Amino acid sequence: MNIFQDWPEPIVRVQSLSESNLRAIPNRYVKPLSQRPNLPSHNPRTTTIPIIDLGGLYTEDITLQTKTLDDISKACREWGFFQVVNHGMSPQLMDRAKETWREFFHLPMELKNMHANSPKTYEGYGSRLGVEKGAILDWSDYYYLHYSPSSLRDYTKWPSLPLHCRDILEDYCKEMVNLCENLMKILSRNLGLEENKLQNAFGGKEESGGCLRVNYYPKCPQPELTLGLSPHSDPGGLTILLPDEQVAGLQVRGSDDAWITVEPTPHAFIVNIGDQIQMLSNSIYKSIEHRVVVSPAKERLSLAFFYNPKGNVPIEPLKELVTLETPALYTTTTYDQYRQFIRTQGPRSKSHIEELKSPR
Ligand code: OGA
Ligand code: NI
Repeated sequence: MNIFQDWPEPIVRVQSLSESNLRAIPNRYVKPLSQRPNLPSHNPRTTTIPIIDLGGLYTEDITLQTKTLDDISKACREWGFFQVVNHGMSPQLMDRAKETWREFFHLPMELKNMHANSPKTYEGYGSRLGVEKGAILDWSDYYYLHYSPSSLRDYTKWPSLPLHCRDILEDYCKEMVNLCENLMKILSRNLGLEENKLQNAFGGKEESGGCLRVNYYPKCPQPELTLGLSPHSDPGGLTILLPDEQVAGLQVRGSDDAWITVEPTPHAFIVNIGDQIQMLSNSIYKSIEHRVVVSPAKERLSLAFFYNPKGNVPIEPLKELVTLETPALYTTTTYDQYRQFIRTQGPRSKSHIEELKSPR
């Protein structure tokens, strides 16, 4: 239960700030020196997150199948982040989904505000994460909605405009759930477990959660002072991100702690492991910290689909993965409990999962 019924102060749409052509951003968005993105010294890194062709799983070629599974396994262990191509969704649906959301964010403010959200469920049009009064905010607006389980799907909380938005969304989310269910089987097998193990630990297919967060990052006159989204790891199970193809912005924390910009591959999705799978896998799979930098010249739009455990099932390292040499690293929680943290405090690096480390 969220005890917060409303935001601690009036909501300011970042898009309105951006469109008012300010030369300097308000102090509320200026990050402390240590958190600024340090744009000029972006070292041009050549490392990229792995790109995996999922087509390899559906061939007759057993060697290719095995190699694809191994590549996914390695990406989950070493990176926690990878791009996938040949994932099954048509490029047309991907483009239409982005297009309809771009149109939504370009509707008049009065229309968008009809869907304004509150911290009770976060569903709808929003401009902040966390309810701490006076907090430094991120340079983005968003739209958040529930798709599954169907008991949580409330079409009245989805945008009523653009006209085909709900239909496109329905198609998009349905295919997202399929892709997530397939990935869950692959991840489970790659952990040496029966293929439904991970899904069952989520509370089963019918009960697992799926929600969409559409991020809108308006252009920013001082991108070197702020962030579109502060460093965080995703609290849920698995995230499938459809990034903006024109504007890079997502950065992933590399193993040497440096930030790596993800260059989007045309019509690829970016997959990343969330905190719940890090905990269930006893940290064999990593939920990696990431953030978003903004651009002075262009807006950026991304669709993040989150696939999560049922809210009230206990989440703890799977017994099969706990041994004398690899004791359970985390105490038990539920996803409902867990996500209260980010919902009240906002994005805070990896501090929450660190708190759940078992006492030694
Ligand atoms: C998120 C997220 C990245 C992006 O919504 O959790 O990390 O590129 N988004 O928008
Ligand atoms: Ni994220």
